[in-house]
Amino acid sequence: MTDVRAALREAAQRLEGVSDTPRLDAELLMAHALEVERPALLLDPARFEIPADFSGLLERRLKHEPVAYIVGYRDFWTIRLKVGPGALIPRPDSETLIEAALSWIDAKDAPLRLLDLGTGPGTLLLALLSELPEAVGLGVDASQAALALAGENARALGLADRAVFCEGDWAAQVAGDFDLILCNPPYIADCEQLMPDVADFEPAGALFAGADGLADYRRIIPDLRRLLAPGGVAVLEIGHRQRISVTGLAEAAGFAVTCKQDLGGRDRALLLTRA
Ligand SMILES: C[S@@+](CC[C@H](N)C(=O)[O-])C[C@H]1O[C@@H](n2cnc3c(N)ncnc32)[C@H](O)[C@@H]1O
Repeated sequence: MTDVRAALREAAQRLEGVSDTPRLDAELLMAHALEVERPALLLDPARFEIPADFSGLLERRLKHEPVAYIVGYRDFWTIRLKVGPGALIPRPDSETLIEAALSWIDAKDAPLRLLDLGTGPGTLLLALLSELPEAVGLGVDASQAALALAGENARALGLADRAVFCEGDWAAQVAGDFDLILCNPPYIADCEQLMPDVADFEPAGALFAGADGLADYRRIIPDLRRLLAPGGVAVLEIGHRQRISVTGLAEAAGFAVTCKQDLGGRDRALLLTRA
């Protein structure tokens, strides 16, 4: 009978050409099927037998379903988020926004008011609330599926008493003063071809933003002035070729802009403060 190590090797080989991270995917699927964390699997694979449902999980991945949808979660920053169809899978690049926001904050125990526009499964808001014990926040999204996951994630992380989620069309129904506004809007041009993992599984409403990918920035940025408290900052994720165009929109709306790069050195986050 094949052991777990051989099964992982074989699965990783089959996943080459489907995934950029075939071995990692195989390990995550095996750990999920065994109901253990990946480090426990890697430390002592000989302890386990191949679970019956591993081959079914592997077949799903071979059809390009993202690992996060198969296992039902994605780790982001220091938190684990439940994810599922209807909500974008959080991306490591978005951690640049968390770093940028935290570097802007002087006192982590300040009673800050946060707003996360397009919160998805609560990604940016919950990651920041986990770092800021006195902060409270509002997460807005147009997707009910995403909002249901955000609420579940807030409860699972013990943050539900400091996070409110509501359905909305960007900031149209939002009023108030926020010290920190976060937003990772759709920013892919409609004509762009995406990998099947993304195109066939993740919601188009979380990805595409008109002919030039800027449609949502054009709607969001003008509202930020009304919502930003004196001394506050808005942190926007951008596609790595969008710095000049989104900076132009922000400057036209009266903001001073600085840019932060992601771990790959690409432009990824813009910080907007009142000029
Ligand atoms: C790129 S995803 C980001 C999700 C999450 N913030 C993250 O980083 O994982 C964009 C999000 O914006 C939401 N969205 C799209 N159009 C919207 C609108 N008009 N009003 C509010 N949210 C919207 C999508 O449903 C999606 O959850």
